[in-house]
Amino acid sequence: MVLIKTKKELTEHLSFAERKKSIGLVPTMGALHCGHAALVQRAIHENEVVVISIFVNPTQFNNKEDLEKYPQTLKSDIDLLEKISKDILVFAPTVKEMYSNAVRSENYNFYGLENIMEGAFREGHFDGVGTIVETLLTSVKPDKAYFGEKDFQQLQIIRKLVEIRNIPVKIIGCPIVRESNGLALSSRNERLSTTIRHEAAFIFKTLTSAKRIFGMESAKNVKDWVTKQYKKHPDLELEYIEITEATTLKPLVRKQKNRKYRAFIAVYADGVRLIDNIALN
Ligand code: PAF
Repeated sequence: MVLIKTKKELTEHLSFAERKKSIGLVPTMGALHCGHAALVQRAIHENEVVVISIFVNPTQFNNKEDLEKYPQTLKSDIDLLEKISKDILVFAPTVKEMYSNAVRSENYNFYGLENIMEGAFREGHFDGVGTIVETLLTSVKPDKAYFGEKDFQQLQIIRKLVEIRNIPVKIIGCPIVRESNGLALSSRNERLSTTIRHEAAFIFKTLTSAKRIFGMESAKNVKDWVTKQYKKHPDLELEYIEITEATTLKPLVRKQKNRKYRAFIAVYADGVRLIDNIALN
């Protein structure tokens, strides 16, 4: 395991010889869990050199408190990665290294993908994600980069980013990893009490019911049904439930044959914001 702190060291490590090998990048914000481990394992399987970046990116947080509370656990992250493989590069730069003195985002046009759901509720979030992911992709120059489908909207935005910036990389989306009760793994789950973590399984439960109901009802009826379930729940507060076409993420108005749809949800559990999504057909 090599721990790299600067872009200069990164370039030195990814020397000419390494550049001839296939390179896989797994961008993360740390507080690694089994969902990240699945991405790393896939990257190891498909590439000769694997770089994991660990960087809590300040520009993608629209809420100062959320940034301050975001878990930073570099030592245990490295322990987890060492158990997977001793042969990976960990790139864990400081904010100054990544942004110099100007901690701000680029302004992107992601053709509307950025204006709904996470983009609507977290102003500037996707400009921050785009800025850091573009910097990582152009610094590491991987052949493939791996992202989890839990952040499905982010995944579509990153596919758009590489298209508009002409970055030669294959973006690989990997399935959501869940706890045994269905709760999608997230670094934010660390902030939940045992009771609330248990309660939060309700999110996946409502999504799987929504999938079943979607076979018989309109998108509006499904969303109304989900909204009603949260009104009855004492500990979980629904921020949004949306049903969209699966790639354009355009909200569904009328179902069409041969189109794929997906449901997206954001819920506050004891002040912790959790997101999830599910393929509906
Ligand atoms: O999904 C994440 O952890 C982050 O948004 C990412 C892609 C590492 C960018 O900071």
